[in-house]
Amino acid sequence: NTTMGDAKQRQMEGYRLEENSKTPLTTYFGAKVENTDIALRAGSRGPTVLEDFHNREKISHFDHERIPERVVHARGAGAFGEFKLHTALTGITTAKILTDTSKITPAYVRFSTVNGSRGSADSVRDPRGFASRLYTEEGNWDIVGNNIPVFFIQDAIKFPDLVHAVKPEPHNEIPQAQTAHDNAWDFMSLHPQSTHMQQWVLSDRAIPRSFRHMQGFGVHTFRLLDADGKSTFVKFHWTPHLGTHSLVWDEALKLAGQDPDFHRRDLYDAIEAGSYPKWELGVQLVKEEDEHNFDFDLLDSTKIIPEDLVPVKNIGTLTLNRNPDDYFTEVEEVAFCTSHIVPGMDFSSDPLLAGRNFSYFDTQISRIGVNFPDIPVNKPVCPFATNLSDGHMQTQSKKNRTRYHPNRHDALPVTAPQHGGFRPYAEVVNGIKERMHGPKFNEFINQAQLFYNSMSETEQQHIISAAQFELSKCFETQVQQAAVERFNMINHEFAKAVAESLTSVTVPAPAKYHNQKSAFLSQVNGKSQTFT
Ligand code: HEM
Repeated sequence: NTTMGDAKQRQMEGYRLEENSKTPLTTYFGAKVENTDIALRAGSRGPTVLEDFHNREKISHFDHERIPERVVHARGAGAFGEFKLHTALTGITTAKILTDTSKITPAYVRFSTVNGSRGSADSVRDPRGFASRLYTEEGNWDIVGNNIPVFFIQDAIKFPDLVHAVKPEPHNEIPQAQTAHDNAWDFMSLHPQSTHMQQWVLSDRAIPRSFRHMQGFGVHTFRLLDADGKSTFVKFHWTPHLGTHSLVWDEALKLAGQDPDFHRRDLYDAIEAGSYPKWELGVQLVKEEDEHNFDFDLLDSTKIIPEDLVPVKNIGTLTLNRNPDDYFTEVEEVAFCTSHIVPGMDFSSDPLLAGRNFSYFDTQISRIGVNFPDIPVNKPVCPFATNLSDGHMQTQSKKNRTRYHPNRHDALPVTAPQHGGFRPYAEVVNGIKERMHGPKFNEFINQAQLFYNSMSETEQQHIISAAQFELSKCFETQVQQAAVERFNMINHEFAKAVAESLTSVTVPAPAKYHNQKSAFLSQVNGKSQTFT
């Protein structure tokens, strides 16, 4: 089979070691091992001797088997597959992955929870990571998204604060995998910008039925660039063919005990059974000249672009059809980054995205080492040639005698402006250097309220119950009270129901935002439904 979809599989085959059954047990350096069950001893009851290199190698390698887990999104499951574009964005971008409908492109996705450690349960209340990679013929393109279209914070400089607050509390490492604790709610109540995301996390979206039933969102606004360098803003969405479904809280609680691997198992079993999950890749496109025509800022990751303002256009299908053969090298060592884009795309100036573009490869240097792109799951399938050199665990023996550019030896690689090399958008930038965001970054309640108002009564009741549960796990009344005050800006009845469930919290007076009505297009299953 010669489709691009198999290119990754074929590439990875080259790295597979022979099956153990065919080769007798050897040391790492190839010497056959006669006995691996009893260490070499000076007499059958005497001391174990140091010269037993097999014993030393076996124990020493074991001692170093663990690498640091991801600082966030530590628990995950991945699968390979393929992507096929069906609707070309001709004239909008030069990226072949978005314009050439004849190609099948190898793909990879890692789904994850955010807060829990590698061994935590799958069904906890948490956003889910949806990190996708398309191994395009112009380089790897990663959409490192979540199953929620907005984020807690607007600026990446806040990310260490956010994660320190929502992760288990530092003095006792409790709770393991959820935000039901004082620090998390203290942070959120001190950061009005988290109000919208908080609603999504209290909703059923944060307890998905399975990875196969989740949407994925690139969250940030990116750019697509045409041949003249003209830019169109874009947001990316993955929508599952199976529809978007959630557990109910009681199921989630039971599953966390009965089968903590529920989501991982579901994905693995479905693929093994040939029931391949599929997603549509959708885009929301905004013309450059329309950038300021919204009452929110396109650069603010705490806001969606409502679908009634800009509909989602589906352009291609992702199918996951192959389980990894080896969890460590193919899931633990995969290294995504939002900065992995291809020619014909660019970033917007979203300050959250800017920080992510730095943070991922930076963390990967300490998590897997500076040569992580050389790990098979991370390698592009297209030809690649860099002047990067050396470093821990370097495995590429390059034949060229120069590692600099330009050089007088006609040595490759050379830059390729004539071959369509990546060119950033020529954005006109003019401003005072200051620690400041645009004025629209200061409105935090509207979309949180739109979200709450778009829910059915049952869904609203789920949000209320989730908030009651989360805040019941907090000990500090002022943290609970502050959270309730914020809920009150979204909906008074909601705040009242939560306040009344907590012993020392008082019901606030209705806030000025109370009963605001707005149109909001539900993102559920990508269907267009207007709620008022
Ligand atoms: C990991 C999504 C914001 C830093 C991840 C992963 C996902 C993700 C899906 C898991 C990747 C995998 O499966 O290997 C998001 C989304 C964000 C966001 C959707 C907001 C829109 C941030 C920010 C930072 C950050 C603002 C830092 C400034 C990290 C780091 C990892 C990570 C360090 C671990 C990566 C690794 O060890 O390979 N994120 N994230 N994230 N994220 Fe984010």
